[in-house]
Amino acid sequence: MNNPEFVQIDDLKFRVLLSEERIQERVIELAREISKDYQGKVPIFVGVLNGAILLLADLIRHLSIDSEIDFIKISSYGDARISSGEITMIKDFSADLKDHDVIVVEDIVDSGLSIQYLKRRILNMKPASLKFVSLLVKTDMAKVDLTIDYVGFSIENKFVIGYGLDYKQQKRNLKSIYQLVDEG
Ligand code: PRP
Repeated sequence: MNNPEFVQIDDLKFRVLLSEERIQERVIELAREISKDYQGKVPIFVGVLNGAILLLADLIRHLSIDSEIDFIKISSYGDARISSGEITMIKDFSADLKDHDVIVVEDIVDSGLSIQYLKRRILNMKPASLKFVSLLVKTDMAKVDLTIDYVGFSIENKFVIGYGLDYKQQKRNLKSIYQLVDEG
């Protein structure tokens, strides 16, 4: 697939916000930082399905340390664009996270409710440590007080798709990230 500047879906128009090159450069930087912080350790990266799969796949390929992976699937949005605020567990962890260094991988932190839910759940499993990486963080995500340890980009509160992020479950495969254009 090419990297067009605009993507049109239904009656919505999206413009590129973060190019494939910018994303890949930033992912390499994050991988370097994480590799440095976890020298001598083997962290387990927990990808939050579905959105995090692209970041997780790119991130672990740039690590200079060993790693394990696991996945969890929760949902707060369904096909809606605004969080319902209620988290539903769809697929639980497979790995036993006890005494592991856990790094949760997200594509985006919006309200922060998903991360808050995951934090509580994972801490109950008594990991050796717990950190969060997210490619995108919405700057006005203020519903909960959270620290995201590794942030790719801070963005404004607009609807975005691509690089894992969907519109009605599609467009996750776009290599760049696109932002909804306000019409009118
Ligand atoms: C999205 C995203 C995060 C979460 C962030 O997942 O991937 O997991 O919402 O929102 P929050 O900070 O407001 O909780 P979604 O439920 O849309 O599932 P998906 O990853 O399969 O698209």
